[in-house]
Amino acid sequence: MMEETLKEIRNQIDSDLEGVSTEADLVRVKAGYVGKKGSLTQLLKSMKDLPKEERRQAGILINATKNEIEELIEKRSDEIKRKIMDEKLLEEATDFTLPGRGMPVGAKHPITQVMERIVYDFERMGFEVAEGPEVELDYYNFEALNIPKNHPARDMQDTFYITDDMVLRTHTSPVQIRIMQTQQPPVKIIAPGKVYRCDSDVSHTPMFHQIEGLLVDKGITFGNLKSVIIQFVKLTFGEGTNVRFRPSFFPFTEPSAEVDIECQICSNGCRVCKGTGWLEIMGCGMVDPAVFSSVNYNTDIYSGFAFGMGVERIAMLKYGINDIRLFFENDVRFLRQFV
Ligand code: FA5
Ligand code: MG
Repeated sequence: MMEETLKEIRNQIDSDLEGVSTEADLVRVKAGYVGKKGSLTQLLKSMKDLPKEERRQAGILINATKNEIEELIEKRSDEIKRKIMDEKLLEEATDFTLPGRGMPVGAKHPITQVMERIVYDFERMGFEVAEGPEVELDYYNFEALNIPKNHPARDMQDTFYITDDMVLRTHTSPVQIRIMQTQQPPVKIIAPGKVYRCDSDVSHTPMFHQIEGLLVDKGITFGNLKSVIIQFVKLTFGEGTNVRFRPSFFPFTEPSAEVDIECQICSNGCRVCKGTGWLEIMGCGMVDPAVFSSVNYNTDIYSGFAFGMGVERIAMLKYGINDIRLFFENDVRFLRQFV
């Protein structure tokens, strides 16, 4: 009797499993056998009604069938999982014969391009690149450059103060001091980087880039300065570009000059050159003895020149751009012209 029932159950499982195609179906089928109300569970429960001497044998038989059925279910479960995986793999397979998708290519910002080009030209003239911090001590930005506190020259640059003795550097000139403090002459460096001033119009932005130059050695003259600057202008703007040295004043150079080049944007006056036909691109001069003494250089032996140029101004002239703010609006239609 018990054997009959077990045989029936055992025969039923094969056809049940046949119709199963998902894990959910399988769970349902499994419950029909070994779940709370499953046929095998019922059988196990009914054992208590059997005469004592038959119970042991019945238990063995039921458990054997139970194990067998559980194994079959397990096997079917593996088959279903494999089938689902196979279908998924087929669906996601990569077709290597399809044409590739092009990746959009980025490009360097025009200011970066111009700066790298200028740095490269100076490197070829034997200058080495130096760097300094953008958050700078008042001492390096002003004091050591012969601009004491309360000196009227501080008004020439509208400074962002962080604390009483710390500023966002207003120019790259503090790098001169940092280099001379750690190095004996000969010194021949350029220092490119960001500088900050509270300033904004068609030719001024609150953040802009400068490239500082410093050359210190025996017997350096203003003639050396002029020849380096003229060489730079030729390399950057072409052989025939007119350049002029206009006497000027900086506390850290003596004599000082500002360098203008012919406006490349207009021929008879525009808002960038303010109708003058010239645009200022840098300040320069012979290093002031007061600066040398702040770094303990012997002024009887050494002399030198320094310059600091505005990279945006140079880029404006090079590309005929009439508003400096265009560089920082990051309009892709503008930027794409420089790819
Ligand atoms: C200076 O900053 C001096 N440190 C330059 C120098 C270095 C002189 C070494 C002597 C020896 P000035 O403030 O003029 O100088 O600025 C230098 C250049 O930076 C200017 O010629 C101009 O091209 C550019 N510049 C100045 N202010 C701005 C601004 N707000 N936006 C964009 N460019 C500017
Ligand atoms: Mg100036």
